[in-house]
Amino acid sequence: MTTTLKKRNVPYLALGGLWEEDDVQAAHRVSAAAAGPDGNFFPLPEESDFQKALAAHEGSGFAVAVNSCGTALDLCMIALGIEKGDEVIVPGLTFVCTAGTAAARGAKVVFADVDPDTLCLDPKAVEAKITPRTKAIIPVHFGGHAADVEAFDAISRQHGIPIIYDAAHAVGTKFRGKNVGGAGLASCYSFQSNKNMTTLGEGGAVTSDDAEFSEKVRGLKTFGYVYGAKLRVTQIGYNYRMTKPQAATGITQLAKIDRVIAARLKNFCLMAENLRGVEGITLPAGLDENHGCHLFVIRIDFQGLGTTRADFVKKLKDDWQVGTALHYPAVWNWDAFENLDYDKSATPVTHEACDRVLSLPLFPSTTPEDVEYIGDALRETLASFQASSQ
Ligand SMILES: Cc1ncc(COP(=O)(O)O)c(C=O)c1O
Repeated sequence: MTTTLKKRNVPYLALGGLWEEDDVQAAHRVSAAAAGPDGNFFPLPEESDFQKALAAHEGSGFAVAVNSCGTALDLCMIALGIEKGDEVIVPGLTFVCTAGTAAARGAKVVFADVDPDTLCLDPKAVEAKITPRTKAIIPVHFGGHAADVEAFDAISRQHGIPIIYDAAHAVGTKFRGKNVGGAGLASCYSFQSNKNMTTLGEGGAVTSDDAEFSEKVRGLKTFGYVYGAKLRVTQIGYNYRMTKPQAATGITQLAKIDRVIAARLKNFCLMAENLRGVEGITLPAGLDENHGCHLFVIRIDFQGLGTTRADFVKKLKDDWQVGTALHYPAVWNWDAFENLDYDKSATPVTHEACDRVLSLPLFPSTTPEDVEYIGDALRETLASFQASSQ
């Protein structure tokens, strides 16, 4: 097979959404105002406006803006009082900090397996790992596909264990038509540069329907302050605040997030259509209006092809200038986990998925010609490895 398409460069971009003139102006406006008389960077009103807009968009009662998803997760662990002796159940197929946040509190990290279709934490596998020491479960809405919120609600009710969602990929993600921001006890969002929306490159939020938990997180993110007629400090807290220019851009970014996700969904569906039926490629599941469309993760049995993922990625890049990304190596493979207390037993789906995943470069700006080219490049690369393995 030889592609008739002219060679193009399709890199894996480090900006997942759209950064446009209104976003630039939002940051500029608050920065310029700070240079005027009485100027300052005090977060109001942008912070509260952004929080209200985020809660409204994600379907939660409350939203607390912070400076990253990592800190959002940390604050939830602190608010829950997670400590040594506790166990926290997480997937192994995720970014390191989903597990790291529990490890940082001294808890034992318990990895449960993921669902072979969605690659989200499998509720049945989680149930098998619950012990009297389990103090929290952190499912990830992997790539923008919602975890099984209904099943996790049932587990939470039955065992009295709080569910904290890692919603780093999940702005706009829905579970059966409903945005996931109010699911579980809380959800932790990321607005880091490569996510579908960003607040000047870094940022995050905790959303929740629980007023008391939200207030605890809000206090913890800002030194434990409780504002009122008299300033009080009711808990020992931190400074995990989002800055004023970040919050200002959060408002403009949220205003366009539905457009960003619609453009991504269109490209995801085109790519899936292009690759449907290609032997050796497993496509992402559930590409519909519920999907947040953050990552387009395919799976390839590189070992069965007689190669490694690194060599496949290199050939795709060298021959076709198609960039890819890896989401993710198994968390337990990071050096930092070597001396930590963790359990990775009974996770065969995770092991296999971590060996096979590869993310394709699909963004709002990707054109139909790019999609066709990526498909051709992938087929050519697959075919060349298939030929040499015979
Ligand atoms: C699943 C997941 N959780 C958490 C994070 C951390 O987000 P942040 O960089 O905002 O701390 C990321 C970032 O890539 C992520 O992919």
